[in-house]
Amino acid sequence: MCGIVGIVGNRPVAPLMVDALKRLEYRGYDSAGVATLDEGVLGRRRAEGKLVNLQSRLDENPLAGTIGIGHTRWATHGVPNETNAHPHFSNDVALVHNGIIENFRELREELIEDGYEFTSQTDTEVVAHLVSRELNSGKSPPEAAFAAIKRLEGAFALAILFKNEDNLIVAARNGPPLAIGHGEGEMYLGSDAIALAPFTNVITYLEDGDWATIHRDDMQIFNENGARVERAKQLSVGSTLMVDKGNHRHFMSKEIFEQPEVIGHTLSHFLDFSEQRVSGLDKAPFDFKELDRINITACGTAYYAGLVSKYWFEKLARLPVDIDVASEFRYREAPMKKDGLSLFITQSGETADTLAGLRYCKQQGQHIGAIVNVKESTIARESDVVFQTLAGPEIGVASTKAFTCQLSTLACLAVGAARQRGTIDATREAQLVRELSEAPRYASQALKLWDEIAVIARDLQNVDHVLYLGRDTNFPLAMEGALKLKEISYIHAEGYAAGELKHGPIALIDETMPVVVIAPYDSIFEKTVSNMQEVAARGGKIILITDQKGANAAGMDDAKVIILPEMPAIITPIIYALPVQMLAYHTAVHMGTDVDQPRNLAKSVTVE
Ligand code: M6R
Repeated sequence: MCGIVGIVGNRPVAPLMVDALKRLEYRGYDSAGVATLDEGVLGRRRAEGKLVNLQSRLDENPLAGTIGIGHTRWATHGVPNETNAHPHFSNDVALVHNGIIENFRELREELIEDGYEFTSQTDTEVVAHLVSRELNSGKSPPEAAFAAIKRLEGAFALAILFKNEDNLIVAARNGPPLAIGHGEGEMYLGSDAIALAPFTNVITYLEDGDWATIHRDDMQIFNENGARVERAKQLSVGSTLMVDKGNHRHFMSKEIFEQPEVIGHTLSHFLDFSEQRVSGLDKAPFDFKELDRINITACGTAYYAGLVSKYWFEKLARLPVDIDVASEFRYREAPMKKDGLSLFITQSGETADTLAGLRYCKQQGQHIGAIVNVKESTIARESDVVFQTLAGPEIGVASTKAFTCQLSTLACLAVGAARQRGTIDATREAQLVRELSEAPRYASQALKLWDEIAVIARDLQNVDHVLYLGRDTNFPLAMEGALKLKEISYIHAEGYAAGELKHGPIALIDETMPVVVIAPYDSIFEKTVSNMQEVAARGGKIILITDQKGANAAGMDDAKVIILPEMPAIITPIIYALPVQMLAYHTAVHMGTDVDQPRNLAKSVTVE
């Protein structure tokens, strides 16, 4: 992952780069650094931990210079400490890198034989030494960078600064995104356009294999063969405002509370309330009627949203869905029928595995649809059709509003698919549209459980393991609930299909094990009651999320019960996600973890 920036400017750039890096902290936050060139001399400041530490370093010991590169890190090779923090230096070269150099071991051996000394455990340092070696052989800085890049295997976005070259940054992209920003007598480089938003909204995106020489007044882009290429300038709509927490203690709580609004916003994008139908599908370059199955690929929370939609597409539209986590799909060599539809679900639109899956499907002649939150992301740009979730910027690493907006979008697509395929008629479509339009109201009601769930969460802070159970669309929700708890509270949790309990996990149940059961009162509720009884009989502590009918029918006197209003089945996975999120949030707050930036994680996973 990691975020990179570069500025060829006409004012001191170190503070500007720190500002830009703050916007990239979602890509990693375990160390950070900047390097500048001041009167031809390279200088750098680096610090372990979050950007505030780098800021303090710079306050104590400022860095002058009007050209520089910067980095915020999510460690892949080498522990997160100052020595492994970027920029890495090699003689006349300073370099920052996002990605993984897969052949770094052999390059490292080769460079050691040539007398290069390594000071870090990173894969990145080989690139700095490679460029340095090429410079020493008499090549110009751009030639040296190009020669080094050609030796690299793996994924990389690079920015390179050279001693005595006060009007040049070389950038290169193979995989992770890189945006060049055009200013007035200044040029910028960033992992995304949002990082550059305070400086410019005129952006050129590098394509895979591109590398560029960036100067104050212009830039040149070259392809992997070294030939000049033109890449269009685009106007970015990235906001210049840093998103703030408002009155909330954490971004995560703010984002949980934004859900009624953003779910409504997203639904109104895909539903025509006056006509009571799904809108916009007619513009898609495919017709669900022509398809005999669809393929869905995503990671993490987005994958669980896809799993929920499998139930919707199959039940409502009678359309079989193949769904995979992207890290498996990309190497599975799945046979695909030409002109099929592959959907990719992603908040960031930059997840490396999801992007790789997309490119595989493209090669297989698939139509590519993206359910994506960041409109200018690589996945959005590489898709044939974008169904944008309108969650707005999601800053908390734990996905909340992006998830419910993904579900909202997918529900609309499933209803639209059903209508196109004739498996529902206009009357049923209108009913489903009305039911979906109720989601924001139910979401507001769910948020009223905030304080009550905070009390229930107190007990969870002292446990080591939690089991989540659900059936049907609540099964993926159980997995999402477990993921949420794991990532922000560090408590081990697993989500299971309730019916699977007796096939293994029941062995874990004893009086120390809380079991969260997600079960609105529905046609299979009684099946889940049997599972709860199996848990209760073995001393397990049940937290049941249900409605009043469910609470009455369950008759679990010892259970803690979180009661939601009764609601239409189509919106239950959307609304039941909220108590699940709140339970994880409050547990983490009670435990005092870093809710918005939990350890070892990054918001956007741009490496394999
Ligand atoms: O940006 P994406 O939606 O592609 O990200 C996928 C996952 O990395 C993401 O959903 C992750 O699982 C969340 N941190 C979970 O809260």
